[in-house]
Amino acid sequence: MIAIDREHQLIRLDTPHTTYVLGLLDGKYLTHLYYGAKLGAGDLSALFFDPDAAPVPSACPREKAGFLDAAPFEYGTSGIGDFREPALVVRSADGQEGCELFYQSARVIPGKPKLVGLPASFGDQSEVSTLEVDLVDPVLDLAVTLQYSVFDDVDVITRSARITNQGKAPVELLRCLSFSLDLPAGDYDMITLQGAWAREHEIERRPVGFGGMEAGSIRGIPGHDANPFFFLADRGTNERQGSVCGFVLVYSGNFLAKVQRTQFGSIRAVLGIHPARFTWHLAPGETFQAPEALLSWSGTGIGTLSRTYHDLIRRHLIRSKYVFEKRPVLVNNWEATYFDFDEEKLLAIAAAAKKAGIEMLVTDDGWFGTHRDTDSGCLGDWLANQKKFPEGFPAFVEKLHKMGLLAGLWFEPESISKASELYEKYPDWCLKISGRTPTLCRDQWIADLSNPACEAYLTGAILDLVRRSKIDYIKWDMNRPLADLGSAALPPERQGEIAHRHVLAVYRMQERLLAEFPDLLLENCAGGGSRFDAGMLYYSPQIWCSDDMDPAERLKIQEGTELVYPVSTMGAHVGASPYGITSRVSDFDTRAKCAMMGTFGYELDLTKLSEEDFSKIPAQVATYRKLQELEETGDYYRIASYRENGWLDAVEIAAKDGKEAFVLAVQVLTQPNEKSTRLYLQGLRPNARYEVEGRIFPGDILMQAGYPLAHKIHDLDARIIRIREVEA
Ligand code: GLA
Repeated sequence: MIAIDREHQLIRLDTPHTTYVLGLLDGKYLTHLYYGAKLGAGDLSALFFDPDAAPVPSACPREKAGFLDAAPFEYGTSGIGDFREPALVVRSADGQEGCELFYQSARVIPGKPKLVGLPASFGDQSEVSTLEVDLVDPVLDLAVTLQYSVFDDVDVITRSARITNQGKAPVELLRCLSFSLDLPAGDYDMITLQGAWAREHEIERRPVGFGGMEAGSIRGIPGHDANPFFFLADRGTNERQGSVCGFVLVYSGNFLAKVQRTQFGSIRAVLGIHPARFTWHLAPGETFQAPEALLSWSGTGIGTLSRTYHDLIRRHLIRSKYVFEKRPVLVNNWEATYFDFDEEKLLAIAAAAKKAGIEMLVTDDGWFGTHRDTDSGCLGDWLANQKKFPEGFPAFVEKLHKMGLLAGLWFEPESISKASELYEKYPDWCLKISGRTPTLCRDQWIADLSNPACEAYLTGAILDLVRRSKIDYIKWDMNRPLADLGSAALPPERQGEIAHRHVLAVYRMQERLLAEFPDLLLENCAGGGSRFDAGMLYYSPQIWCSDDMDPAERLKIQEGTELVYPVSTMGAHVGASPYGITSRVSDFDTRAKCAMMGTFGYELDLTKLSEEDFSKIPAQVATYRKLQELEETGDYYRIASYRENGWLDAVEIAAKDGKEAFVLAVQVLTQPNEKSTRLYLQGLRPNARYEVEGRIFPGDILMQAGYPLAHKIHDLDARIIRIREVEA
């Protein structure tokens, strides 16, 4: 619900449990008045009252700077007196930096218009409405439209900004973030994810002090060490109690998430494309669209915020038909064979997979080019290796289909190897700074996707193979950061656009792929989880969230990922034991149970498994099938965190109607002489009766007194506990 109250110069946006209020100061400055628990109907002008507010410029022109540096602007600018973190920085054709925005008009649009060229949440007119507020800088002749969409079924308000040069001279956007938000003084913690390859998405919570605190990426992808979102929690907020705001960026490249505590204690929060490695040349008549950010507020702890994002992402961001559908249980040959495979070896794995009830074989890296036997060479040569697939890839896919298996294939379209036919033919199709040899990473360079010919060729190569082979699934990988941001295809004034253009091109390529093959199951990946974000989820319903499949490590990675992203979006596979990355030994069943908290699959050589382990696979697949629907539709609760307590992890998924739930409880480390531990369940019906491990419990007892989890003398002991309502 959006209401423009012209009499009081206020605009209110309401979701089911939250209210967001904008107000005009001095008749022309758009400011932020409130974001929090839903307010009652009626006049909200009391929100304007602030005994310490600086006088508005019309009343006190001599102290305008005091006003500009303290008023809670809805989209902060720079250069003329607001010294806080800006959302928009513009350089005029004269080379001068300054921007002041004045309110022009506001309108409400039913539904939600698409964002040109960018992924964004969606909904029909019964689910979402949109507010557009036009601001203008009359000196630059720059129009800024702030976009807000308000969902009626989930507590999310989206924000974005569209900038149009209405003048006669070009301007340079030096920064164009998705939003800024000024919040009242308080003690806040910033919650983000950090990490590295194989230990992505570690949760970090830091108190916000004076000055700035930020998370971000200038790697061209979000990176293993960052994720494009942040939460801002009141100091005492925990999983179940307290206030917390969430800000999630629907974008897959460089980003800046910054929280600044100003000299007066108030907070300015910003999120958007990182201003480093970014300029955008806006010629007269041109428009720049900033990516969308998803804002949410919870007064009942961090858990509610996570569940809100899970719902939003599943209902209003993932377009794939697979979002609420059965996904195939797959086996991926990467950690089974690495580069050492051919069709015969894969068919043996496929036969074992079929026997065990697995539904798809994914052929990973190494299938293409003339010599892709190591991670050097052939990226760009997207034709199957003739020695490995003597009859070609389409014939191989046909064999899999005849066996009753689906076929998946790995690509890394954004990279080019020096030792490739593509590079020999088009040496200019790599990002390269004039006079410098581009920096190698995993022996590969980045394809210059600002060059339309390069983008068209790579898109065509993938489409052609999918067309000819009838592949059912693609794993789209990206194994290095972007450096050497120089393009032979762009003029000097547009070189600062390369990183963003790269992301836009990836979106276009995936859009093109899905437009022709709407039934294709796309899984994104970037060296594990270095591009796990809301932008990619618009194209793929699942993303490979880490190359680390060690169950103890995975539990932490999955906990971090689940802070924002639904369980059903996380690719999770059963790896080998001892596990390569950690040398840790674990039971086959434990590994499988941990991987069931995600889109399930196997990534080991099925032909080398012991008979005993192999015989367990059909039951594992069957268990996953029983859990999958709940994972796709239910509510997620963090019950115990191994990251926090050092020994026990427990996660619950409950059906929305509370009739059914399951818990994955993993005792990572045995506690000597430990007695049972209470798992305080959530999301059940207090008055209903449930069967749990053969006993009957009332719902309120499971939630208030807790379910006593028996202690086992066994490291890495995993249990899936099902909770089902029974007749009274
Ligand atoms: C990345 C992926 C892996 C695998 C390899 C192949 O590291 O995350 O799953 O596909 O690339 O080179």
